[in-house]
Amino acid sequence: MDRTHTLRARMRAPGALVHEGDFFLWASQTSERFDAAAGNPPFIRYQSFSGETRGRAQAEAAKFGARFNGLCSSWAPFLVGAAGLLRSAGAMAFVVPAEIGHATYAKPLLEALCKHFDRVHVIAFREKLFPALSEDCWLLHCAGFGGRTDEILLTALEEFHPLEAPPESVRRISLASWRKSGCRLRKFLLPERGVRLYDALAGMPGVRRFSEVGHAGIGYVTGANDFFHVRPTEAQFWGLPPQLLRVAVRKGEQLPKRRVDKEVVGRWLANDEAVLLVHLRGVDPLPARVREYLDTDAGHEAKDTYKCRNRNPWYVVPDVKTPHAFLSYMSGLAPTLVANEAGCVCTNSVHAVQLSPNFDITDVQRAWETPLCQLSCEIEGHPLGGGMLKIEPGEVANVRLPLQQTPASRADTTILEETITEARRWRHYA
Ligand SMILES: C[S@@+](CC[C@H](N)C(=O)[O-])C[C@H]1O[C@@H](n2cnc3c(N)ncnc32)[C@H](O)[C@@H]1O
Repeated sequence: MDRTHTLRARMRAPGALVHEGDFFLWASQTSERFDAAAGNPPFIRYQSFSGETRGRAQAEAAKFGARFNGLCSSWAPFLVGAAGLLRSAGAMAFVVPAEIGHATYAKPLLEALCKHFDRVHVIAFREKLFPALSEDCWLLHCAGFGGRTDEILLTALEEFHPLEAPPESVRRISLASWRKSGCRLRKFLLPERGVRLYDALAGMPGVRRFSEVGHAGIGYVTGANDFFHVRPTEAQFWGLPPQLLRVAVRKGEQLPKRRVDKEVVGRWLANDEAVLLVHLRGVDPLPARVREYLDTDAGHEAKDTYKCRNRNPWYVVPDVKTPHAFLSYMSGLAPTLVANEAGCVCTNSVHAVQLSPNFDITDVQRAWETPLCQLSCEIEGHPLGGGMLKIEPGEVANVRLPLQQTPASRADTTILEETITEARRWRHYA
């Protein structure tokens, strides 16, 4: 830990031995072993968790059998490093981010813990453990170091109350069913009958994974959105040729519920919104008026941005596609799938959906709005804080779509709907 925290720890626990320095360096060198380890590990995101510390963290974790890739935040190797210092039958308890319920690196972490402990228990709280943090935090308790288990225990509680021992009421999740869920513990916070029904329906022949129907990818990245997107009046002022302008969806809030058509585009243009992408792919030579626009102060500023400096020529925005539909990336109630009937393009603020041949957007939209698919979005997506649901392209690929009319009974629909409500409660959507 750092100097400030070391001093604070020494003040709070005057008799304790407090080490100052990099935990991973110390863990790799010490021969001490412990009966118990407890803590609140640092939650440093992979972008900032770098250099020697990350290298050492990954090496320590690998010794324990946990292979983390570069997208791992610091807390996961911290836990593994602490486990490696336990004596036989030792135990550990840590605060963990709720990401343990969905992050890709939760897989190597929990797999490794189950190979080294008799008991691996995750205690989830619906109400925030640390109200000031946007991320939810849960607790992890592992006991019986040196053993192994083929199940994860999960307790879902409304809120945290101090207890003498880990809660007794647990849901036993076999590693097989956890793996089948894509290693997403979050799914098992939901009512059991809802999860059972979801699994049964998801396995029916008329229900397809999104990856079988199409592909959701990210839209283009300009590097300087305000320069590359102009208003109709600006386009006119600069004399930018209309054939070099594409109407763009720049952000999710711009999307109507079902379709972007001529009428919607007409409204954006009539409101003089900055939705015209200056698209210069294959334009050679550049028209004089375009050269003038590129030569403005704003153009020079854009040219200096990281993205523009790293492409040639700097003013050609790459990966501009015309998708069949747009999908909101971060959503309140639910992600919306919006047909692209106006040949628009989109930035990376929304997903660009390309359907495979033989699939029709109207059928896919119909399936998208069913309770089964909405629940699937909740299960496959993940909470972003502030009640939002985020769904990454890899997560969209697993969303289940009932493409053939499956006669869902009234009772089934009620169960699915109550499970969706519960999922939204867990991500704090009011
Ligand atoms: C979430 S804070 C917890 C602080 C304290 N234990 C508590 O619960 O209030 C995580 C702590 O880990 C420390 N830390 C971050 N990276 C570290 C590393 N590589 N080695 C040792 N400590 C580290 C930070 O300085 C911070 O004090």
